[in-house]
Amino acid sequence: MRYPEEVVQEVLAMNDIVQVISGYVVLNQRSGNHVGLCPFHNEKSASFSVRQSEQFFYCFGCNVGGSVLTFIMKIENLDFVGALKVLADRVGYRLPEKEETVSAKQQRAAREISAELNKQAARFYFDYLYSDATDAVFARKYLEERGVHPTLAKKFGLGLSPSMWDGLIKHMSEVSPEKLVAAGLATQNRTDATKHYDRFRSRLMFPIIDPRNRVVGFGGRVMGGNDEAKYINTPETSLFHKSDNLYGLNLARKARTSELIVVEGYMDVLAMHQWGFTNAVGVLGTALNDSHVRLMKNAGCTSVVLIMDGDDAGIRATLRAIPALTKGGIKIKVLNISEQTSKEYSKAPKDPDEYLQLHGAAPLAAAIKNAKSHVAFQVKLEMDKFDLSTTDGRVGFTTEAAKLLATLPSAIETEAYVAEISKISDISPGAIFTEIDKQRGVVSTALQTTRRHMAQTSRTTHGIKKAREALLHLVLTQHTAAAALEHSGYIGAAELGGGLYAELLALAFANAAQDKQMSRTDIMSHFDSAEEHRSIVEIFIDQPMQHDKIAIEKTLNEAAFTIKRAWAISEMSNTENDQQALQALGLLARSKPQISI
Ligand code: CTP
Ligand code: MN
Repeated sequence: MRYPEEVVQEVLAMNDIVQVISGYVVLNQRSGNHVGLCPFHNEKSASFSVRQSEQFFYCFGCNVGGSVLTFIMKIENLDFVGALKVLADRVGYRLPEKEETVSAKQQRAAREISAELNKQAARFYFDYLYSDATDAVFARKYLEERGVHPTLAKKFGLGLSPSMWDGLIKHMSEVSPEKLVAAGLATQNRTDATKHYDRFRSRLMFPIIDPRNRVVGFGGRVMGGNDEAKYINTPETSLFHKSDNLYGLNLARKARTSELIVVEGYMDVLAMHQWGFTNAVGVLGTALNDSHVRLMKNAGCTSVVLIMDGDDAGIRATLRAIPALTKGGIKIKVLNISEQTSKEYSKAPKDPDEYLQLHGAAPLAAAIKNAKSHVAFQVKLEMDKFDLSTTDGRVGFTTEAAKLLATLPSAIETEAYVAEISKISDISPGAIFTEIDKQRGVVSTALQTTRRHMAQTSRTTHGIKKAREALLHLVLTQHTAAAALEHSGYIGAAELGGGLYAELLALAFANAAQDKQMSRTDIMSHFDSAEEHRSIVEIFIDQPMQHDKIAIEKTLNEAAFTIKRAWAISEMSNTENDQQALQALGLLARSKPQISI
């Protein structure tokens, strides 16, 4: 089947060429381009170049070039439709199943019309803001007073809707009012359906741009102090869904960082960009959801800083944003803007805009750099809920904290937080780990691990053998290392899988007790068979002789950990139902030894 052109364009727009190609080729930035080694021919110097602004790649070596689709077709050896599917999958875009129905086609066409009308409206509001009209002069003054520089206002395409009932309708008199209503630009009189009004009147207009660079809607802010709604937004239309858009993303993606800063308001996005945080985006008065996360990931984002307003709503919004981001594998840092101000100010700023007006960029940049992960933020909220001077309170807090930590994918982070929580609650790290494992459901994790392990066995067996050889070589040639390992009790015959390796370990330990260095011939003299001798030779092949104590320690600990982990995982696969044993093994598989010589 043929996909409609709009579908193709939409998929292309969601797949940034640099992001996609980076998955295949290591790209470096050089004078505005991204360059790398061409994947389509053999080369030593980079002649493969990707232009982000044109969404185009070209190789000066083999003269291959084209769009992101061409790239996927070539590199994955697919036809057009196959490549389109790959790209659609990549961003979670649902391709139409079969030939589009007539009504689907009509809806598509209607959306394109709405986009065109919104673009014309944006132009109209923009021109009006810079006109001589009295309200335009007032609006420009308002922007100035709020510290929005004209360059920035232009960059964001800010505009002004005139204080008339039908300014836009008149301006677009050749367009039927129904189409303007469908585009979210006009409203129909409730009692007289033949009458229509401009939806936005006398408001500062913030155009909302989607990843295809279409104007899909607006936010409109009142400038007077009257009691109308402060903001009016485009309603949900076939084209505009406020929870599918991030304000400022069109500009923020140009900052080309993997970190995005998320703030709550239009004015906050403006202020952030003005003060140099050009990777800031805004959620449009909704909770951050899966669609937002998809947009972010497609812009190359792997971590976000959530800057929340200091009120309860801000805290709630932050808490609601965490699951979608975690699910999307995005790292989260959290900053409460009201907590960032120094004591000398009587009133804490309520949002990033106020903060920047008060303090400027430098302290915010520092605060962002030092912002804590969302877990720290959530743990702190839990802390406030319990009375930590009582045992019950400490137990309650620790249980809740363990639940939070159970969601963390990183073992290193988990360990750091466990240490902190242990200090706060006076409950041992071991007990907290046990609780975390309980929350994670150790049995299922263990079985999963086993399955994964079995799938990887062929690959890792090699690694384990290498680790065993490295460890044995070390303890056989360095009696101090042997003594340290024996003393630690971390590795025994079982972990080495018995047999010759276990005997060699015993030999090394025995020797260490005598403070004596052994040569390879010494070692071999303890064994008779040719096979054993061959294995011993193998242990000595390719092993560097180490003299530096730190290097020896490092090798010893790394090898010991690899061996222990492999052993624990294989034990887990044999230990079906014993919850406690599984927990103990799980811990072993995760905790690194610290054997010092
Ligand atoms: N919002 C909205 N409708 C409202 C109020 C708020 O859509 N009636 C959304 C807007 O996206 C707004 C954001 O929620 O930007 C945050 O609201 P608020 O903090 O009240 O506004 P600010 O952006 O701080 O605007 P200002 O500084 O101009 O008051
Ligand atoms: Mn504000």
